[in-house]
Amino acid sequence: MSSKSLESIVSAFGHAVSKKLSSPVISGAPEDQLRGPLEALILEGIVGLLDYPKDAVALIGETALSEIMTRPDYAVTFKKALTGFIEVKAPGKGADPRRFQGHDKEQWTRLKSLPNLLYTDGMSFSLWRDGELQGAIVRLEGDLETDGKAVKAPGELLTLFSDFFTWTPQTPKTPRRLAEVSARLCRLLRDEVSEQLERGNVALTGLAEDWRKLLFPQADDAQFADGYAQAVTFGLLIARTRDIPLSNGIEHAAIDLKKSNSLIGTALGLLTDNADNRMVLKTSLDTMARVLNEVNWHEVGKNDPDAWLYFYEHFLEVYDNTLRKRTGSYYTPPEVVNAMVRLVDEVLRGPLFERPLGFASTDVTVADPAVGTGTFLLGVLRRIADTVAGDLGAGAVPAAISAAANRLIGFELQFGPFAVAQLRLIAEFQELMVVGAGKSATLPSLRLFITDTLGNPYVEDEHLPQMLQPIATSRREANAIKKGQPITVVIGNPPYKEKAEGRGGWIEAGSGGKMVAPMDWWRPPVEWGVSAHTKHLKNLYVYFWRWATWKVFGTGNYAATGTPDRDEEGVVCYITVAGFLNGPGFQKMRDDLRRTCSNIWIIDCSPEGHQPEVATRIFQGVQQPVCIVIAAKTLGKDRAVPAKVRYVALPKGRREEKFQALSALSLDVAGWEECSDGWRDGFLPEATGSWADMPPLTSLFVYDGSGVMPGRTWVIAPDRESLARR
Ligand SMILES: C[S@@+](CC[C@H](N)C(=O)[O-])C[C@H]1O[C@@H](n2cnc3c(N)ncnc32)[C@H](O)[C@@H]1O
Repeated sequence: MSSKSLESIVSAFGHAVSKKLSSPVISGAPEDQLRGPLEALILEGIVGLLDYPKDAVALIGETALSEIMTRPDYAVTFKKALTGFIEVKAPGKGADPRRFQGHDKEQWTRLKSLPNLLYTDGMSFSLWRDGELQGAIVRLEGDLETDGKAVKAPGELLTLFSDFFTWTPQTPKTPRRLAEVSARLCRLLRDEVSEQLERGNVALTGLAEDWRKLLFPQADDAQFADGYAQAVTFGLLIARTRDIPLSNGIEHAAIDLKKSNSLIGTALGLLTDNADNRMVLKTSLDTMARVLNEVNWHEVGKNDPDAWLYFYEHFLEVYDNTLRKRTGSYYTPPEVVNAMVRLVDEVLRGPLFERPLGFASTDVTVADPAVGTGTFLLGVLRRIADTVAGDLGAGAVPAAISAAANRLIGFELQFGPFAVAQLRLIAEFQELMVVGAGKSATLPSLRLFITDTLGNPYVEDEHLPQMLQPIATSRREANAIKKGQPITVVIGNPPYKEKAEGRGGWIEAGSGGKMVAPMDWWRPPVEWGVSAHTKHLKNLYVYFWRWATWKVFGTGNYAATGTPDRDEEGVVCYITVAGFLNGPGFQKMRDDLRRTCSNIWIIDCSPEGHQPEVATRIFQGVQQPVCIVIAAKTLGKDRAVPAKVRYVALPKGRREEKFQALSALSLDVAGWEECSDGWRDGFLPEATGSWADMPPLTSLFVYDGSGVMPGRTWVIAPDRESLARR
């Protein structure tokens, strides 16, 4: 038991601080004056009063770099394990960061991701967990500057420190909680990386260069920071699914992970191998390792087969909702995925393709070019299992599923969803491949790739060092698939992002020289008079449509690549926004789809129109009308004969009603309406009744375009005075 009392140690602290603050030769920031006395208060006072062994607590002080936002002044270990952080503010600033302004406020927005953080300005002490205040803010009595020795502390100060030291990570019990915890730390890591890049940190800048060379040539610093943080976070999560401990250091976890998951293990290794980098990013890396080490993967998702379905969405909500919008990451509800998979299966079985086993046919290859968390590939896999079980019996499923793995391909740009897709697919294979006596057969390797789908598959690979071979191999394989492997079905929910000029990679820019960029194939000729509308083609979903038609049907292949055109057959099925169904800028796209395809089915999912009520939307965050389109091309399709285009609208009403209608929909039922066969016409039913007799609006005006688009409303007013006033 310490011979000191709370009164005596706080009095000594007050004395020391007041002496420092009143010294005429004061140097450094005011908060720096607190550091020595605070260390003494904790290490020589509080630790003893709490009856801990002398060396139980260690304060690892940062050299005072007050402008760094992502690193608190002290990392604190308790019995050798990282337990939390202390941030010291200038005396008088208080310890309620919610009231801070300027730099301190901005710093708080980052540090509040930490699970155990103590703030103090010498007079006040507060404890924060994940941004939430724990208990009350404890204030000393007196004034540090003037009262010196007479300063007193309430007993709660000891309780606060005891809580702080004895924190242990909470084991996340549900996938949602795990998503939130991981997202918070991932965000802090991203901010730490960004900050270090801004400061010109040599090792990290070099790493960002390698990363660009290796994977994403167009990634700017912010995208690198995001890729880094997601790859590390999800790498560690995958490590935990394999029960790899994180307590021996992240670099060791990476080595272990590489043995079973070479791509993610290599990425984790690449990103965390350098000790200098680990050092500058230690606030978040060490916290993340400590927190995620507690994860018991087998417990988290128990009893819920779709536990991982919304994991990445929940992750993005906390991590960065803007990123979610920027990358167009709205994940498709399983009801919609199942309906799309079933309808394409029906097309494959039907008269156009005559594959009675649908997706289970051994010559049908499927790709999801924006695979996200893998929902479409999972849907296809389950469909194949059902077909095989129905056709040959349950015993035939494991072998058929194993063989099918080679026919399912997924591309994804972000590490986070990619890792989740892997987890979900592996779990599904495990479940479907159980053979006699509950034993799983050896799992096949998955054909999932980290790649920019729209990127140029024709660029030569640079030689990469041995250590990075798994990444190089994966990239080469993805490019080989893009260039050479015939794909029968492209299915998915590609990202939506308007004004995406410059983000369409090879699809938008082409290979240069005499080659025509794939997107140019869809640019309407000037004489069609719709140039004012072609800006709408600059949308990620349109680029993905163009990619799919090139990949599956071979549309415009010779013009884009110089390799001979081939007659291909297949199906493209996407859910996207519906602008291309009748927008004037999309006339050439529709003309080309009519020439290329044999049949096109349009399912209007938003009969309510633009900005419908949220409850009616398939994607709650998407205001634009949405549609599912299935486009099929048979071998030998004559480009002079327009595709047969048919249309059906889901009922107006709540999304659940739409799901129900989708589940009952078949290509064969009544209710589909014929659309016009005019090459450039909208993919909508022909106008009937008096509408059909009216002149189109565009024929009444000499000019048809968007007019002035100021992008703000204050420049528009009904009278001159208001404008002058503004
Ligand atoms: C709308 S989400 C759909 C994901 C999934 N198909 C689903 O519906 O659940 C689009 C996905 O495409 C990915 N993505 C965006 N641009 C990409 C690109 N150029 N190449 C590959 N994937 C991309 C995003 O990261 C995101 O995961």
